[in-house]
Amino acid sequence: MDKNFYITTPIYYPSAKPHMGHAYSSIIADFFARFKRIDGYDVYFLTGTDEHGLKIQRAAEKKGLDPLEFCNVISKTFKDLSNTLNLTNTDFIRTTEERHKKSVQHLWSELEKNDDIYLSKYSGWYSVSDEAFYNEDEIEELDGVKVAINSKSIVEWIEEESYFFRLSKWQKPLLDYYEKHADFISPESRKNEVISFVKSGLKDLSISRKTFSWGIKVPNNKNHVIYVWLDALTNYLSALNYPEINNELYKKFWPASIHLIGKDILRFHAIYWPAFLLAAKIDLPKKIYGHGWILTGDEKMSKSKGNILDPIKVIDEYGLDALRYYLIKEVSFGNDGNISQEKLEDCNNSDLANNYGNLCQRVTAFAIKNCDGNIPNKINFQNDDLLILNKYNDNLNNIRKNIDNQNLNFYINYIVNSLFEANKYFNDQEPWKKKDDQERLNTIVYTALEIVRKISFLLYPIIPESSLKALKIFNISENEINLSSISNNEYLIKGNYINKIDILFKKIERSND
Ligand code: ME8
Ligand code: MG
Repeated sequence: MDKNFYITTPIYYPSAKPHMGHAYSSIIADFFARFKRIDGYDVYFLTGTDEHGLKIQRAAEKKGLDPLEFCNVISKTFKDLSNTLNLTNTDFIRTTEERHKKSVQHLWSELEKNDDIYLSKYSGWYSVSDEAFYNEDEIEELDGVKVAINSKSIVEWIEEESYFFRLSKWQKPLLDYYEKHADFISPESRKNEVISFVKSGLKDLSISRKTFSWGIKVPNNKNHVIYVWLDALTNYLSALNYPEINNELYKKFWPASIHLIGKDILRFHAIYWPAFLLAAKIDLPKKIYGHGWILTGDEKMSKSKGNILDPIKVIDEYGLDALRYYLIKEVSFGNDGNISQEKLEDCNNSDLANNYGNLCQRVTAFAIKNCDGNIPNKINFQNDDLLILNKYNDNLNNIRKNIDNQNLNFYINYIVNSLFEANKYFNDQEPWKKKDDQERLNTIVYTALEIVRKISFLLYPIIPESSLKALKIFNISENEINLSSISNNEYLIKGNYINKIDILFKKIERSND
């Protein structure tokens, strides 16, 4: 079986600098990328920026900048954020790149060749903020202004000549596809939402605009630019050098394993994108996962509302790994969640500083003092030791299966329990009372060290920097981390020197508000 894994984030609009919502999607994608990598997969991890369309053109005009100049500046803040977040993305794509334009125009030609495109006239509602067309029944009036019911963003009436994609023709094939590929759309609630929308009837989709110019030109008709969503979605192919489908990247990584997105853009990914691909006779991605929103109060955090939290500020205050841990643990994956300062401090102080950091510290300090600074080698496992060690072995396939179902909640609970049990083991075994039985003392220390190693491997996708710091105890470096080896109870038996490590997490003084 090919162990290749291709994961993508949405490509973000560089209309304003990134906020916590973008950081969230990217961190989750990085979690999966790292997990798969330590499980022996060859991983391609793509993120980037979506730079065309009226939304960007207007944002640039407001600043008095040429759209590309404007994008250069803001796209860089997204790229910088991927470094700050310690993302292991393989590529960062910008839709203004030549490789992408070529790819989009080729896909257009394929659709045209297969008679899925025709020229007509569009009249209807359009939201520039969402870059989306809406039907009459998706519009409401708020304070005398017409807005989209779902996103509350302002819509405007447009009437212009436009190319159309024969989306209606794909209604039945899409429904068949969803039925045959039960986990194409996840989580389940999102899937039902999509299916009922498709069942309610799909109209042909306007896929070009004539009244502005900031976009990729329609091949053979320079008066039109390609609809920004057809442009943007194609990025997932462009990064693999589409249309050169015989190149290594494409052969290896298409179809994508998972497009990770927020639920706000489900319709584009679960309906339009597969329809374009079906029409162009290209394999469909294996999964679309629409996660929940980071909220401010009870509203979606968003650039257009301005109710944003800057991830950089949070990282400056709490550290990156505390933030990554928090987002994975406290935002129940699939659902919406808030950023609570109190819970963030709890994560840092109890889970990370007390349960993990302290475990690492006390076990190494004890080992250094009582085992000559070496990993003990004369050991003799008893039941208590094997019971806790073998749990990792017993759960390995279960962990893999849960991750393949994006069950992050299972994973984090598993880790929280493991940390609890590890500390309990060390307390209950009381190695400090075994100084007259060196073999028993050695075995307890060895077992505890082995557990520190196993947990650090499991924590690596969540808190990579801290996990690597902890693994310095054993001189284990990043490329040696390997998920299968959490079932090995004798990984450390080489008699290596144990290194003392710095404090992993500083406790945060409680804020009083
Ligand atoms: O929609 N909570 O770009 P965008 C969680 N360019 N995630 C959030 C979030 C929040 N409050 N706010 C944003 C676009 N996100 C298009 C995508 S893809 C071919 C084109 C994340 O800048 C989430 O992943 O509006 C969401 O789907 C995405 O950013 C939207 O980013
Ligand atoms: Mg948006």
